[in-house]
Amino acid sequence: MTAMTAPLVDIADLVIEYDTGTRQVRAIDGAALQVFEDETLAIVGESGSGKTTLGMAAGRLLPPEARVLGGRIHVADVDVSDADDDALRRLRHDKLGFVFQNPTTALDPTMRIGRQVALAMGGRPAPEAIAELLSRAELNEPQRILRAFPHELSGGMAQRVVIAMAIARSPQLLIADEPTASLDASIREKVMATLGRLRAESGASLVILSHDLRMIARHADRVAVMYGGRIVELGAVGQVMQAPAHPYTRALLAAAAGNERPGERLRPIPGTPPILESRCEACAYAPRCAFRETRCETERPEPRAFAGREVVCHRAEAVIAADQSPRQEAR
Ligand SMILES: Nc1ncnc2c1ncn2[C@@H]1O[C@H](COP(=O)(O)OP(=O)(O)OP(=O)(O)O)[C@@H](O)[C@H]1O
Ligand SMILES: [Mg+2]
Repeated sequence: MTAMTAPLVDIADLVIEYDTGTRQVRAIDGAALQVFEDETLAIVGESGSGKTTLGMAAGRLLPPEARVLGGRIHVADVDVSDADDDALRRLRHDKLGFVFQNPTTALDPTMRIGRQVALAMGGRPAPEAIAELLSRAELNEPQRILRAFPHELSGGMAQRVVIAMAIARSPQLLIADEPTASLDASIREKVMATLGRLRAESGASLVILSHDLRMIARHADRVAVMYGGRIVELGAVGQVMQAPAHPYTRALLAAAAGNERPGERLRPIPGTPPILESRCEACAYAPRCAFRETRCETERPEPRAFAGREVVCHRAEAVIAADQSPRQEAR
């Protein structure tokens, strides 16, 4: 990661709403984010926090009911909101690669894998080149897979095909939206490892969107925690995981698998995430927050640098202190 160079992705003050005809949903409520070259950034949050909307916005791939109401998105020197069709097409084809949650919907069920991979590669690649690309995604027997239809592959194999297609044109940025959520638990780590290895080999940047903070933390350099359409905490994985400064990050960690005692059930975070209809003029997390005070319900917190990361919380000092005091007492 090189913070010295211009960021590969630069998102500022982004506001996106969906207009469903019957109501407005403000999915992104003033999000800011930078992604640097050669890094893996995990964006983590519960369902509805805005992860997919943010990821899709980076390629201007939002559905027609979405409205970008403010802010800017730059990806690889392209002003995504302003780009003409030609610039957008080049961005999507040559600089961006997407991996979605469900490989079976990403692949065309009527077309053999070899043909789909060839289309992703562009031009008329030789069968050997297609097989070589599949091998890089750790698919054994690439010759057999080339001739297969999607339904003949397991979920893990299909997702490896999708990954191969995403890296086919050596993109600068890979966006993976819950890339392992539809796969058996036993192969999730392996597929994540492949994605990570391919990213490292190519020097591309990888943005992984996930609700699973612990799983994703093993594979990322930095983590951005999303809540109510904003990035509420952003920092190096080690720092954020060891000493979260946002109460929501802290709650996500406490609720995450692997933190329960033997025989204990996972504790979900009490309360439900908000569905915003307009700009939130308070802290969106306040109703669920154990640290809240009056101003959290009346004053919108703005991003600020604190404890080596960026946090959007009036009470970050108290959150960090709460986790440090028991350790100090134990000494
Ligand atoms: N096409 C749409 N029409 C209306 N509302 C939408 C649409 N897509 C998303 N939303 C709403 O926007 C908000 C953000 O959704 P988004 O899918 O970006 O969240 P997410 O973090 O990716 O969630 P998940 O973990 O479930 O994938 C949610 O409240 C969601 O219901
Ligand atoms: Mg999503």
